[in-house]
Amino acid sequence: MSGLVLGIETSCDETAAALVDEGGHVRSSVVASQADLHARYGGVVPEIASRRHLELVSPVVETALEEAGATLEDVSRVAVTQGPGLVGALLVGLSAAKALAWARGLPLVPVDHLRGHVATLYLEPDPLEPPFTCLLASGGHTMVVAVRDRAGFEVLGSTVDDAAGEAFDKGARLLGLAYPGGAELDRLAREGDPEAFSFPVAKVPGLDFSFSGLKTALLYAVRELGEDGLEAHRADLAAAYQRAIVRALVGRLRAAAEQTRDRTVAVVGGVAANSELRAALSDARFAPLALCTDNAAMIASAGRYARPLVSPGYLALDAYASA
Ligand SMILES: Nc1ncnc2c1ncn2[C@@H]1O[C@H](COP(=O)(O)OP(=O)(O)OP(=O)(O)O)[C@@H](O)[C@H]1O
Ligand SMILES: [Mg+2]
Repeated sequence: MSGLVLGIETSCDETAAALVDEGGHVRSSVVASQADLHARYGGVVPEIASRRHLELVSPVVETALEEAGATLEDVSRVAVTQGPGLVGALLVGLSAAKALAWARGLPLVPVDHLRGHVATLYLEPDPLEPPFTCLLASGGHTMVVAVRDRAGFEVLGSTVDDAAGEAFDKGARLLGLAYPGGAELDRLAREGDPEAFSFPVAKVPGLDFSFSGLKTALLYAVRELGEDGLEAHRADLAAAYQRAIVRALVGRLRAAAEQTRDRTVAVVGGVAANSELRAALSDARFAPLALCTDNAAMIASAGRYARPLVSPGYLALDAYASA
């Protein structure tokens, strides 16, 4: 075995490492989630995340090598998330990647996290060939993009306030669900009646999104119901709230595809795991469920299409916080 790309991802609260071969087969993908650590704070605490990444990054890389039945000898390049994300968290992964690459004289490929999400679609067993129009909906970003080649994308529209995943998490919190609430809200919504409440889909010009008004509408609905009312209508609220988010996402993706005239549409990012979204876009290509939220297989995949930096020119490379 040789020619493996080692991917490392530490942009938020998942410490992840993966090995992907040049053909796009995932040999291993290890994700150590810190969600439990941050749950009691109701969100990710950057300093706690950085410290935990520091403890986890080496064992996670070792486990990824073990699970792939590989050693560092088999690695031909190291791909790592450079941004966007929490800078302290990113620096842990970036430093580990630099150290590994430099020690072995390997090229390093800095990867943009959002390109990573899209590169999930280029993995075996069913790699997608551009052109296509893609919805990227995650905890920190929501955008529609036109993908013309595997090296990148062009942004057609993005959220002017909250990300869709953030809207799910904040809505879940208002409904008393544990952090991170997106998946939990998805489950609860299945027991509810989406028509029981009417939440507006924000009217934003062009192909942009807005979710902050929706969150406020839910807040008022929860207040109006009071504690007993909330208990009785929790599932209905979840269903109606989710329906409004899904409608906004589907509407924008369809409008974007009309503009690009692409016949293929795709969805990536944590929110791509949402069951109602998957059902509403039965003709779309979705990232595999296991690779919707942060992972390193997507980073290794993107690392196959980004420009590698030769050793030791990358030692001064910095992380970046925003796109
Ligand atoms: N089934 C689901 N339904 C809705 N949202 C979900 C579901 N599963 C996960 N999510 C949401 O996905 C988000 C996490 O996705 P992801 O890991 O891609 O985001 P991130 O890495 O934190 O943000 P970014 O990629 O923008 O930096 C969370 O907001 C979570 O609630
Ligand atoms: Mg992400």
